[in-house]
Amino acid sequence: MLMNHIIPFFLAAAGDAGLSPGMPVRASTFATGVDWVWDLILGISLLFFVLIIGLMILFIFQYRAREGHESAPTPSHNTRLEVIWTVIPTIIVGIIFFFGFRGYMDMAVVPRGAYSINVLAQRWSWQFQYPNGHVDNELHVPVDRPVKLVMTSDDVIHGFYVPAFRVKRDIVPGRYNTTWFEATEPGEYDIFCAEYCGTGHSDMLSKVIVHKKGDFEKWLSEAADLLGTMTPAEAGEWLYNARGCKQCHTIDGAARIGPTFKGDFGTERALKDGSKVTVDENYIRRSILDPQSQIAAGFEPVMPTYKGRVTDEEITMIIEFLKSLNPESGDQ
Ligand code: CUA
Repeated sequence: MLMNHIIPFFLAAAGDAGLSPGMPVRASTFATGVDWVWDLILGISLLFFVLIIGLMILFIFQYRAREGHESAPTPSHNTRLEVIWTVIPTIIVGIIFFFGFRGYMDMAVVPRGAYSINVLAQRWSWQFQYPNGHVDNELHVPVDRPVKLVMTSDDVIHGFYVPAFRVKRDIVPGRYNTTWFEATEPGEYDIFCAEYCGTGHSDMLSKVIVHKKGDFEKWLSEAADLLGTMTPAEAGEWLYNARGCKQCHTIDGAARIGPTFKGDFGTERALKDGSKVTVDENYIRRSILDPQSQIAAGFEPVMPTYKGRVTDEEITMIIEFLKSLNPESGDQ
């Protein structure tokens, strides 16, 4: 019965999947090296598991107390045995260190000429800023080119994690952490936040889109021109999705971490301090740039400021989107 599991396991070891058939796809230049060290350590652990447990079971039977058997005097010392069980593990951990450190250095040293993208992590979304100023909530990269990420956080510690690339790096407020990778396969891969960062942690998801040769530049120039392809309200909706608004504000009327965007443009809103304001253009603008100045009643003051991160033009697009959600406000 046990063999039914062990044999396929070792058969798989000979194939492409290595010792761990359940690993994610390999889509970066790091993946093979990481998987190899993983398999090496797993293989060594399995070997010692079988050896130690096997000998233990054998000895339990062989040296059990029974009639007519006297136990031999226990030797206090066996130099040869002690040298063997010291030297062999030392060599093994030396080998693990060698491959592990080589992999670590590969990941730590960014190659010259890498394409640089700025990453801002915040509760609970990602913003990727490209050299031409375009900001997106998905990470787009060219295939077969080293990409460097310069990452920082607006609030707490987050973790940038792409399993398919075997890349994981913490993002710390108040400093820049960098990481890099070179994608080898065009396609879409998951980005996770790998550091518990509060209520929305498990929703802090995004995607890396690896573009085929030549497609990346085309995507970047088109993506940057929002009003070239969309109406202001559509562009506002795109910003709502891309800039992290949707992590806290729904558009279906349900309250989340912040108030919903539906059904309140043009109405009066009660604030935490007891006063009332009309939800109009200026209220929205101030809520984006200085959110702590007017907290809606029933909500916590958790929204970060977007000062310096959205342009006036973009704020206007977001306002148009909010109006389009509330046609009865009479402003359309
Ligand atoms: Cu960000 Cu967890």
